[in-house]
Amino acid sequence: MKNWIIVGVTSAIAESVARIWAERGYKLFLVARNENRLADIAQDLKVRGAASVTTFAMDANAFERHQECFDAALKSMGRIDGILVAHGTLPDQKACETSFNVARSEIETNGLSVISLCTIAANLFEQQRQGDIAVISSVAGDRGRQSNYVYGAAKGMVSIFLQGLRNRLAKSGVHVTTIKPGFVDTPMTASFDKGGPLWASADQVASGIVGAVDKKRNVVYLPWFWWIIMNIIRHIPEFIFKKMKL
Ligand SMILES: NC(=O)c1ccc[n+]([C@@H]2O[C@H](COP(=O)([O-])OP(=O)(O)OC[C@H]3O[C@@H](n4cnc5c(N)ncnc54)[C@H](OP(=O)(O)O)[C@@H]3O)[C@@H](O)[C@H]2O)c1
Repeated sequence: MKNWIIVGVTSAIAESVARIWAERGYKLFLVARNENRLADIAQDLKVRGAASVTTFAMDANAFERHQECFDAALKSMGRIDGILVAHGTLPDQKACETSFNVARSEIETNGLSVISLCTIAANLFEQQRQGDIAVISSVAGDRGRQSNYVYGAAKGMVSIFLQGLRNRLAKSGVHVTTIKPGFVDTPMTASFDKGGPLWASADQVASGIVGAVDKKRNVVYLPWFWWIIMNIIRHIPEFIFKKMKL
């Protein structure tokens, strides 16, 4: 049995991960800002077999409550084995271009709030000399593109932060998994055309996350073929890339 915090559990991907962990009998500490959905998900996870389920309503941008969140998780579960950070927003890129305040708020949600939570987790796990930190970043963080570079910048910041954190924590027995999904059919992408082989379901990505955490993978592209796609995209020379409309 393991004890996990899931931040942003109302996300379609995170809820699907939580179901798998509930069926394994884990203790779960669920964090999200929508209290009604949080209560519904908690009820469902209890029925599915979670050893215990505790909820904690928090907006991820309430940085001043992050420590309180960990304290409550420790109190309710007795020990924390891992944290999955899943919350995020897909910004309106045009709005970010015209207003720095919009861009800043998106970077806070997708970047800084994640770094704040991981900083607390890292220090706790380093003391414990064990723990797993798993974070949903994105392929969008691998290269800046005109269509979503503010989101990409926040996710890229998270990916680089996690890379350094993994490097720091390896000697303490703490593992850090960076999860980079491609296109996933969730409420976040509701306005997209979803045909074609590049789209994955939330359940597919969730089972990839669970497998990656089990195997203590460092960086995982989900589905796997995004590793090839992003390798190609990353290597397109800048003089060609700037003429492309990606
Ligand atoms: N879908 C994709 O194609 C895709 C691709 C790559 C990476 N990702 C990443 O995957 C993760 C999960 O997203 P998803 O696809 O499962 O989308 P989703 O179902 O729309 O979930 C996004 C979640 O983030 C939560 N959230 C947003 N801002 C928050 C805040 N300030 N405080 C607390 N919670 C907040 C939302 O809560 P509310 O319900 O309260 O709004 C929602 O539960 C995100 O980090 C996303 O960036 C998604």
